[in-house]
Amino acid sequence: MSEFLPYGRQSISLADINAVVDCLKSDYLTCGPRVEEFERAFAQRVGATYAVAVNSATSALHLAMKVAEIGPGDRVLTSPNTFLSSANCAAFVGATPDFVDIDPVSHNLDPVALAENWKDDTKAVVAVDYAGQACDMSAITDVARQRGAIVIEDACHAAGGAFISEGKHWSIGGHPWADMTTFSFHPVKTMTTGEGGMLVTNNEQYATQARLLRSHGVTRESDAFVGLGAENDPVLSERGSWYYEMSDLGFNYRITDLQCALGLSQLDRLDSFVQRRREIVAIYNDGFADKALITPPGLRNLADRDFISWHLYTLQIDFEILGKDRHTVMTELCERGIGSQVLYIPVHLQPYYRSEFGYGVGQCPVAEEFYRSALSLPLYPELTDANIDQVIEGVLNVVA
Ligand SMILES: Cc1ncc(COP(=O)(O)O)c(C=O)c1O
Repeated sequence: MSEFLPYGRQSISLADINAVVDCLKSDYLTCGPRVEEFERAFAQRVGATYAVAVNSATSALHLAMKVAEIGPGDRVLTSPNTFLSSANCAAFVGATPDFVDIDPVSHNLDPVALAENWKDDTKAVVAVDYAGQACDMSAITDVARQRGAIVIEDACHAAGGAFISEGKHWSIGGHPWADMTTFSFHPVKTMTTGEGGMLVTNNEQYATQARLLRSHGVTRESDAFVGLGAENDPVLSERGSWYYEMSDLGFNYRITDLQCALGLSQLDRLDSFVQRRREIVAIYNDGFADKALITPPGLRNLADRDFISWHLYTLQIDFEILGKDRHTVMTELCERGIGSQVLYIPVHLQPYYRSEFGYGVGQCPVAEEFYRSALSLPLYPELTDANIDQVIEGVLNVVA
């Protein structure tokens, strides 16, 4: 039997291992120089002014909400076709997460639906680059900014990706249509730090505040001290190298130097990861072209084809006409050594969202229909051409 191919997995080289081992032998396992080094290198790679590294993208999304001062009474609109965190971050801060339907081709937030379903209390839009393909960022941001809201791009699937807009090439994380952008470094993502995330922005205030909240809201920088009368306080008037202030309620969202050592090494390999993923997607697209009951991923803008950093390869399969349910298809694929995954169950249909916010079936019909047909196939750089053939052949046999 051929080897089992999961739907996603990390690629770890000897250089990655050596980078982590070097860190283990150094003075810092956390709060050391590799964190800043990783932030600088990542910001430079994506073309952002500031990057704040954290322990997950969920933390980065939470910090984005906090620094934008989104809270009770505010609404945050996002895509239902995403991982939970894109919506949960709004709930974390007491705001109302709400959902706008997706475009049937790219499966990303539909800017027309966004304008039509806008609500006056909306303070932010979380635009998710599903599978790695960029949203129509300029259209989404036009809608949001004209109505006084900010845009957070959830680019957790899209590290290393870019797109074409207004005839120009824009890097995800380095274009003018997102106020903040978040990335995930979970092992199934394009590059990994084990767990980890990054918030990038060109807004200095957002970056400074995110850095503060990442570590308990504590500062040791004397020019950031608030004091608030501590100069005359019999206990706190004494200043010295130990002195620190907590000026806001923060968290422990720090990433370790060990993770950043891996992140730096993976960043060096990002271009090759993106390139190989793109090659695999091209081979899959050829293999699944014009096959009955199967729809390969669509492109919103054909010009983006050479710039997308693909995280997922999601086919749409007409299970009803096939006469086999998805569970059976997944089991039969598994028997052929092919892992698959269903991404995503529309977030508004999760029990929490139904009971807390009254959301339900019919609210986002395009995302609900997409969910019924979606099946993500193995996609990671270490898939060999023989592995790819195994997947194509297996799927065509099972979906015959
Ligand atoms: C679109 C999206 N947003 C956010 C996250 C959260 O990322 P993390 O696991 O790093 O917290 C994920 C992770 O799967 C994701 O896919």
